[in-house]
Amino acid sequence: MTIVGSIPRRCVNLPPGSLSTLISCSTGGRLQQGPAIEKFYDAFSAWLGGPHVFGAGSGRSAFQLALEALNLDRGSEIIFPIFTFPVMPMVAKLLGYKPVFCEVDPVTFNSGPDHIEAKISDKTGAVLATHLFGQPCPIREITELTQSRQIRLMEDCAHACGVRVGGRLVGTYGDVGVFSFAEGKNMPCFGGGAIATADDDIAGRAAGILTRAAIPEKGAVLKKALDIWLKWLLTRPEVFGITVYPLLRLKLLMGQPLMDSTVGDELLDSFAASNPKVERLANLQAEIGLRQLQRIEAFNQGARENARILTESLSGVTGIGAPDTAGGEHIYVYYPLTVAPDRRDALRRHLLQNGIDAKITDMSDCSLLRQFGGADNQTDPRSGPTEASILEICVYPVIPERNIRRLGRIIQAWAREAEEN
Ligand SMILES: Cc1ncc(COP(=O)(O)O)c(C=O)c1O
Repeated sequence: MTIVGSIPRRCVNLPPGSLSTLISCSTGGRLQQGPAIEKFYDAFSAWLGGPHVFGAGSGRSAFQLALEALNLDRGSEIIFPIFTFPVMPMVAKLLGYKPVFCEVDPVTFNSGPDHIEAKISDKTGAVLATHLFGQPCPIREITELTQSRQIRLMEDCAHACGVRVGGRLVGTYGDVGVFSFAEGKNMPCFGGGAIATADDDIAGRAAGILTRAAIPEKGAVLKKALDIWLKWLLTRPEVFGITVYPLLRLKLLMGQPLMDSTVGDELLDSFAASNPKVERLANLQAEIGLRQLQRIEAFNQGARENARILTESLSGVTGIGAPDTAGGEHIYVYYPLTVAPDRRDALRRHLLQNGIDAKITDMSDCSLLRQFGGADNQTDPRSGPTEASILEICVYPVIPERNIRRLGRIIQAWAREAEEN
């Protein structure tokens, strides 16, 4: 069984000193509220170039805060990319808006201005431009479009914290940028999220909403932080190799599910049943955020370098799509490998047998989900990606270059063998 050279599906990226921060916030009564929240707002704002910043309990909660603060007419349509994290359009639906889906580019997985323009109607209130997997969408062109049509623009930067387009950080192009600090993203803060806006009216309403929002419960903040810290420990590649990896191999051998997350309609049903309300960022999360801001640029650069090595080693491999690393803007929060839908599971099994735990993406073709009308809703033939064709690989800098090169060789050999059969 391969233990040396293992790669977890996601490596939780906590900064050094996270556990001591957790202990000192806990013993000092600063888990929920404290001075770090305003300090984090100021530091995040300074890094982004000066917008107003407000924290929230998660990325989805930040999006709810953004939508409530935008204050669109009830019943307005909001355009989302068809292929995205489906909880985002669900938030809009629960607030009384109508999600409308536009196509995505099959290579970048992002929507561009033409895809969006095709879905604009006289009821369109806003667009959520999404930078999927860490690759920026054509945000300058989308900004021009939404400004010319007088539509609000929001940006989903859950996968794009630290991505620059034309030297400017994404999340500052739209009326509101939405960020996630969940454990699976590049800047985890024991959970949390944030919005950024340069619009004083939106900022004023967001401040009012947060004043009325409940303070997160101490037990919940602590439990989430301990859970994420444990995931951090178990996803150090060497620890993963002797703990979770053998368990996954056993599950593979016994034909059991491989610890995949709940996705699709099941996820949306439980989210809707939770009756989500805007939650505040906790002081502990803000303290971790301040530490993360010191290192996020170097971290993103490390992921870029590993991605470059992997893409280079997959050049010329047939039947596997790897992201193009030439532009240099992508930060590879996830490195998406594309493969024919009927071969995805075979590739995943092969990788796991060789120490690499690839993740089936949590993104979906939202138009196929029951909550958004299901297959009956479909009018256009789909040309874009599906979750059945994408495996996410972790290329975070905690993974040594030699293991990335080894991964490239394993995929090459699999593709060669598949071609011969
Ligand atoms: C593209 C995208 N947007 C938003 C979110 C929501 O972030 P959170 O999990 O912090 O609520 C996610 C989470 O996976 C996501 O992938």
